[in-house]
Order: sequence, then structure tokens, then C-alpha cells
Amino acid sequence: MDERILEVLRTRSDAYVSGEELSADLGISRAAVWKHIRRLRNIGYVIDAHPHTGYRLISVPDKLLPEEISWNLRTHKFGKQIYSYELTDSTMNIATKLAGEGAAEGVVVFAEAQAKGRGRVGRKWVSPTGVGIYYSIILRPEIRPDETPKITLVVAVAHAAAIRKVTGLPAFIKWPNDILINDKKVCGILTELNAETDRVNFVIVGVGINVNTMLGDLPEGATSFKEEAGEGFSRIEIARESLCALEARYEVFQQKGFAPIIEEWHSYSTIIGANVEVAFRDRKIEGQAIDVDSSGALLVRLENGLQERVFAGDVVRVK
Ligand code: BTN
Repeated sequence: MDERILEVLRTRSDAYVSGEELSADLGISRAAVWKHIRRLRNIGYVIDAHPHTGYRLISVPDKLLPEEISWNLRTHKFGKQIYSYELTDSTMNIATKLAGEGAAEGVVVFAEAQAKGRGRVGRKWVSPTGVGIYYSIILRPEIRPDETPKITLVVAVAHAAAIRKVTGLPAFIKWPNDILINDKKVCGILTELNAETDRVNFVIVGVGINVNTMLGDLPEGATSFKEEAGEGFSRIEIARESLCALEARYEVFQQKGFAPIIEEWHSYSTIIGANVEVAFRDRKIEGQAIDVDSSGALLVRLENGLQERVFAGDVVRVK
């Protein structure tokens, strides 16, 4: 109901809408309208209220609230149910719990800040309040567990595209799942799997995006859109576009397979053809990054001419 009230107020934000009109439009009492207005004000909406003229929306909160993200969200499934937290340990934990309880594919958990944001291989993800986007989405792909790296690439491609579209910044993908701008990391993707031997129960994809974060609050080698562009961006707009771009790529992946994803991935990739060093588990290899194969693994040609397939790891360019 809050969303329907907002819809009316948004479309008529240049005028006051009377309580009577709202109550008739929405089929609820005027007292109920007032109750919803109070709730919206409590979560940060500035709504002017006059006894004679009615209500007028003055401003919306700069927060990743369901009411904001779902407005004009052009997806079929992703983000149709959104949970938003001021602070959580990690959105991964909440999404995992929800998925374990049977939550549907496409349910998303956002947080304004995370106390224990986590990155790949046990690293932490710095998650200062109100400046970044931290979200986890529940996916239920019909794939084998060993195909999960493909999902990471689907997500990376979607985010490179979304970032370019909204910010105009030159976002590139560093295999497997870092999004870079000017060679510095702006977005990280974490894929956690709940599976049996031969089938995936669910995948939780976590995405952290440094939108308006100050350089001083970020680890070395990281940056934010604001730092690179010299201006801030709407987190809500980026969150919406991310979900939209992700759903579109995920549908392509489900309907047409991985080939079109790899094709798009190539257009954003920074390392194919480059000499790289890849660290994974307790090993380090050096060679030329040849391609990504049909399972999402990176193919590296070693100095001795042999080719190695790498499924996960950290890649750096070397001369
Ligand atoms: C990485 O690059 O190492 C992956 C970073 C993933 C960070 C996101 S922020 C939202 C979600 N919750 C977490 O605790 N981690 C992911």
C-alpha cells in the first residue's frame, strides 16, 4: 500500500493530493492513509501534509529501500521482493537463510552497511554506510554444481553493462569477477553455492559496488564511481539497472546458453592476450591469458607451451 500511495504522490508531486482522493483511489479509510503517510515519513520520505489541501511528496530518501528500488523497476522476477537493512553482518547470511526457508529466485537483500561484509577467499568487503551498494540475490539455476563459475561471469557481464549505462564510466571485467575502472576495483562479486553432489539447490550471488565511497575509506587498489567521475551517482538508479541487466543476462543464459554471455564478456575483458600471473590455492602460474572456455574457466598458456585451465584465482597482469 505504501508503494501505491507513493505512486500517486510521485506522479503528482507538483500538487497536493487530498486525503479524500487518496482514500477513494486506494480504497482505504482516510485514517489508514494518514497511517501510511506517517510510516513513509518515518523511513525518510518528506511529505508535506495540510489539513485542507492534502499531501505532497517533497523528497525521497537516498536509501536502498524496496519502495524506491521497485519503482520503475523493469524486471519480471528479480527484485519483486526486496528486503532492506540499515545494518547487517552480511547480506549473504540473510539471503542464505531466506533461500533455505524456500524464498523464491530473484529475492534480493540490500543493506546500507555491513559489519562483516565478506569477499572472496575469506577477504572482507569494506561496507561503509550509505555510499555503496551491498546486495545479495537468490538464484535457483538448473545447472550442475561444477557450472557455477558461469553464473559469476553472467553477473560480471551484467554489472559491467549496468555501470557503463548509468555512469558512462569505462567499466571492464578482470576475470573472473572484478569490475575495474581505470585498472582499479569498483565492484566485486561473490558466489556462494548450496548444492548436493549433482544438483544445485540455490546460489547466493553477492555484489558490492563502490558508488560514492571516498578513497580514504577503500582498500588499496580500489576506487569508486565518485572518485573516478568527480561526481556522485544515485545508488537507487544503479541498483535498479543492476537488477535489470542481471535478469536480462540470466534469461539469455537460461534460454540460449553460455555462448552469448562469453561473447559479451569478451567485449569487457581486460586480460585476454595479456601476460598474467594467476594465484590460486597454494599455486602461482605465469603465462598468457588465452581465453575463457565454455565452462567459464580461464585458459592460460604456460611458458612451456602447455595450457592450463583455471577455475578460480587472482589474476594480475605482468609485463
Ligand atoms: C570480492 O570481490 O571479493 C567479492 C565481494 C562481494 C561483496 C558483496 S557486498 C554484498 C554481499 N555481502 C557480502 O558480505 N559480500 C557481498
